[in-house]
Amino acid sequence: MDVNCISDKIYYIGVNDRTTAKFEAMWPLPYGVSYNSYLVTGPDKVAIVDGVEVGHAARQIDEIKSRLGDRKPDYLIINHMEPDHSGGISALRAVWPDITIVGNGQTINMVRGFYGVEGSVLKVKDGDTLSLGEGVTLRFALTPMVHWPETMMTYLVEEETLFSGDAFGCFGALAGYVLDGGAQTEMYLAEMERYYASIVGKYGQFVQKALQKLQPLAISTICPTHGPVWRSHVARVVDLYDRLSRYEPLDNGVTIVYGSMYGNTAMMAERAAHELACAGVGPIEMFNASTADLSRLLAAAFRHKGLLIASPTYSEPIFPPVKTFVDGLVIRGLKNRDIVLVGGCSWSERASALMAELLGTDLPRTTFKHAGSCDEHDAVRKLAAELGTRINN
Ligand SMILES: Cc1cc2nc3c(=O)[nH]c(=O)nc-3n(C[C@H](O)[C@H](O)[C@H](O)COP(=O)(O)O)c2cc1C
Ligand SMILES: [Fe+2]
Ligand SMILES: [Fe+2]
Repeated sequence: MDVNCISDKIYYIGVNDRTTAKFEAMWPLPYGVSYNSYLVTGPDKVAIVDGVEVGHAARQIDEIKSRLGDRKPDYLIINHMEPDHSGGISALRAVWPDITIVGNGQTINMVRGFYGVEGSVLKVKDGDTLSLGEGVTLRFALTPMVHWPETMMTYLVEEETLFSGDAFGCFGALAGYVLDGGAQTEMYLAEMERYYASIVGKYGQFVQKALQKLQPLAISTICPTHGPVWRSHVARVVDLYDRLSRYEPLDNGVTIVYGSMYGNTAMMAERAAHELACAGVGPIEMFNASTADLSRLLAAAFRHKGLLIASPTYSEPIFPPVKTFVDGLVIRGLKNRDIVLVGGCSWSERASALMAELLGTDLPRTTFKHAGSCDEHDAVRKLAAELGTRINN
């Protein structure tokens, strides 16, 4: 059985990238990433749905040629213009100059702007259809800001298959299996949370709009632009996206994020973790903001209901690695979390007040000086214990 064969009309022509260390020059890729692309073949026409990153274009073109033989691709459907999916456009156009680029008005502008590509384009609107021949109908749904303004999705009506772009995508290159059934589902789902929190997290309201638009559709298969093709776990990934985009915590655990230069704030964070564990709160995920990757902190913050942030005061403001995390929360508009703050200093405490200005002035917080007095240690314990009580109830 050819595992790239998603159905007799859809063939996987994506590529794996295990070379790039950081996606968008920022997010670590411990398992690599795939740039998914699909060949949809009808009796009359052939369409490529989504492209690959520029460094992989030549390999993809070889794959398309060997798959199609004498036939040529007629359409290149661009659901999303971020260069991880559009970088190969010029190379495809050079090999098949007559290929028609299919996208909405914003897509076409971006194609010109990024690649200077003119020539045959087909501009589509929300709900438009494109037939590749009898029994193979593609319908387009505009889903702006999931994850760029031009983002859209393509639905293969007869096969109930959704080409969803970045939505439902995840980090993690494919290891042989293209469909989720044979793949390491749990790893990919954890990477989906990290992908969501890092890349899509800001756009929850737009993801919700897209999910509402998809609601009437029967969906048997989801072909995203990253990660496995979902068929065995469609309901699970749709539910995960729904909850994440409603900013709903996935469990009653707590994320602890701290920064510490000389160990005093770290000690306060340890106290808090101990107290939360004694209260039976779980799971607890704890991170040193200076050493853990931001994507892990954000994914944990999206997952758990509680969040304790502890920072020293550093040259007046918040300790920079913690500030980066706090800014990440603000940018993403994370809501519905029970947040408490701890701030340390040696002469005048500013960190907790500044974090409160960013995250909510009424958030419970406590401060300490130097290594912290007995009362200050007790106050951190109490703050954590009260957080535990609220979360458990
Ligand atoms: C480079 C540096 C800058 C600091 N800036 C301030 C400051 O502006 N205001 C203040 O009260 N304390 C300041 N401190 C003191 C720390 O906030 C304080 O000692 C804190 O408790 C250190 O926590 P830690 O042991 O977890 O690193 C600074 C310390 C360092 C090393
Ligand atoms: Fe994207
Ligand atoms: Fe992408």
